[in-house]
Amino acid sequence: MNPATLIPAADTLTAPWGWFQSLLLLTFPLHLLAMNALLGTVLTALAAHLLPGAPYRRLSHELAKALPFLVAFTVNLGVAPLLFLNVLYGHLFYTSTILMGLFWLAVIPLVIIAYYLLYLYDFKFRQLGNGALCILLLVLAILVTVGFIFSNNMTMMIAPAGWGRWFATPGGTLLNLSDPTLLPRYLHMMIGALAVGGLWAALYASIALKDDPETATAGVRLGMGIFSWLSLLELVEGGWFLATLPPEVQRLFMGGNATATALFVAGLLLALATLVAGFRQRVGLAAGLTVMLLYVMAFMRDTVRTGSLAPYFSLDKVPVTTQWSPLVLFLVTLGLGLAVIAWMLVKVAHCPKEVRE
Ligand code: HEM
Repeated sequence: MNPATLIPAADTLTAPWGWFQSLLLLTFPLHLLAMNALLGTVLTALAAHLLPGAPYRRLSHELAKALPFLVAFTVNLGVAPLLFLNVLYGHLFYTSTILMGLFWLAVIPLVIIAYYLLYLYDFKFRQLGNGALCILLLVLAILVTVGFIFSNNMTMMIAPAGWGRWFATPGGTLLNLSDPTLLPRYLHMMIGALAVGGLWAALYASIALKDDPETATAGVRLGMGIFSWLSLLELVEGGWFLATLPPEVQRLFMGGNATATALFVAGLLLALATLVAGFRQRVGLAAGLTVMLLYVMAFMRDTVRTGSLAPYFSLDKVPVTTQWSPLVLFLVTLGLGLAVIAWMLVKVAHCPKEVRE
């Protein structure tokens, strides 16, 4: 069967695609940052439980207070890229979502359960004892499962050649397991998430816990250790991921396309610089470089999507009927929303510690 016949027509855009693409690439790394902070903080809290000493006990208690907020940020910052993904790639994304509908719908209860467990971990911290370890392990298992579901959908939407399997398995239970890019891509996402999350935990400890230098030092040491060693692993794993990409996509990064090649070189240099900053325990520098690296990686990931879809679809072929008012309304609402969030964060930061707890 010709896979192109299975692809529905793309929806008409109300503004040139570059607008939505820019907004997608601006907002998606924010979701990644929050998701990484969430996964890595769970791992750091878990490691802190296993290490001896009062500073590590206090560290896990402090991290417990941040975790429910990180779930909220991950979910809310996922909504914006979801909107733009639907606008640009809705016809592909909806199709792959339907093929794996059962797993996709499971994301909602899974995230709710993880959220509830993290509130339990925070509010009942002192009573939980070793039960805290079980909670954190369960949450970590749930979050990496959600990540796996996402990676399945993101790889399946760009591989229409496999969609015909639906005729043999129409129950919404298809996964993309035979795709050679799935496992390396998923591991790239998860190892990277846990690494960046370790860095976030170190940053949190160095800023928010500076009144308690022993706990702050324990947090920085543990978080930066997780960050540096996992980043080293990520460098090797990234090579595997690149090697599994379709040859025509690989070629884009190897000189076939100037922008893609520049992104690849910038990504490699930034990754090395980040690694050096990590092993030297330079928290602020590592954080600044990591944000840049994350944006470069998100752009590279988008190149993989565009390159993989090239035989079937390209954004510049989508019809446009210009209608600016929805986009303007969105941008105004976004600006107001960001201003309110900034105001809330300033209020929380200036709030006395007793009130915050
Ligand atoms: C809380 C648990 C979550 C985890 C662990 C998680 C993890 C991930 C991962 C690993 C990816 C990248 C997959 C890949 O490209 O291989 C991803 C992409 C994405 N996530 Fe999340 N996610 C979570 C929740 C959410 C929620 C609740 C939303 C929506 C409200 C969301 C929206 C998105 C979108 C739209 C993308 C793809 C964006 C694009 O392809 O440009 N995520 N997520």
